[in-house]
Amino acid sequence: MSAHETASLLQLCRIMRPDDANIVGNVHGGNILKMIEEAGCIVGTRHCNAQNGDRCMAALVRVEKTEFLFPMFIGEVAHVTAEITYASQHSLEVQVKVTAENILTGAKKLTNKAALWYVPCSLKNVNKVMKVPPIKYADQEQEEQGRKRYEAQKLERMETKARTEEVVPPPSNPEQYTVGYSQSTLIHLVGPSDCTLHHYVHGGVTMKLMDEVAGIVAARHCNTNIVTASVDAINFHRKINKGCVVTVTGRLTFVSNKSMEIEVLVDASSLVEPDKYRAVSAFFSFISLDKDNKPLPVPPLKIEGEDEQRRFDEGNARYILNKAKRLAAKERQQ
Ligand code: COA
Repeated sequence: MSAHETASLLQLCRIMRPDDANIVGNVHGGNILKMIEEAGCIVGTRHCNAQNGDRCMAALVRVEKTEFLFPMFIGEVAHVTAEITYASQHSLEVQVKVTAENILTGAKKLTNKAALWYVPCSLKNVNKVMKVPPIKYADQEQEEQGRKRYEAQKLERMETKARTEEVVPPPSNPEQYTVGYSQSTLIHLVGPSDCTLHHYVHGGVTMKLMDEVAGIVAARHCNTNIVTASVDAINFHRKINKGCVVTVTGRLTFVSNKSMEIEVLVDASSLVEPDKYRAVSAFFSFISLDKDNKPLPVPPLKIEGEDEQRRFDEGNARYILNKAKRLAAKERQQ
């Protein structure tokens, strides 16, 4: 294998520790997303520097919808495999697989499959987008499939602009099971350990904060153990710089019989200037679990006002669409 070929594949593994998990031992979805992003960033940055010119860093710009197929537990070993699967002129797709290995029994299960898009940004000027060196495809079909995925996400991005939904503070004494009751906000000062060497936040760090807030919202609504089931496609429109204050707000938008959809809005501002901008937004789905990790029914959501009703209806439409896609994928596998 040539150096060029080996650079497009990466394998990492790490044992899951108590600080990776919640109090009942389920590894947080946010930690898994962070590991996935780290692997993608390494393989992407390595590949983009296999050329002459400015040194660069692969910045995360998009994560396709990601499903959490099985829970991972403390003591298991997470194996993360990242592979560059498509390169456009200025972006590259990295597909990542995560398996959890029980090192006592040898049992392995596929817990996640994710597809991430990175853009090489020059180290001299982080807003200068560099060219991506071409990759070698196994055959023409593989390249064609990659091009289709690239065009599909580009089209979807044009159609779904950054959500400009406002964050409305909850009422002072909200009733249980209302949106306001579980709405939660985390304020975080971006420090050096959150950042790339070039002083903007790692995508994985942002996703971890988002998952944390979404998990708090879900747990406050149903008062049980909860786990991340999936995250809808996320676009990272703008960088968040070191020293910024990020405000991550989560609120329930939709509740089905056994799942909750939480909208997470990430706003950033400098510490001294109050003007905020929307850096990222995403929808997380969570499931409530009993002591045996079996899904539990979720309390219905008490809707108040037109905006909540609109968001609930939009969430319901996404739920129906996603469920139909999952069923179609299952049928294709059979
Ligand atoms: N998903 C996938 N690809 C994307 C994308 C997204 N959300 N946004 C941009 N791209 C791709 C474009 O398709 C283009 O590639 P192509 O020419 O091969 O088609 C390439 O990025 C450059 O696009 P361009 O329009 O020139 O740049 P931009 O104005 O979108 O800026 C960044 C690109 C990377 C500078 C900007 O999106 C950014 O700073 N994003 C935040 C990155 C970040 O901070 N990540 C960590 C998350 S906290």
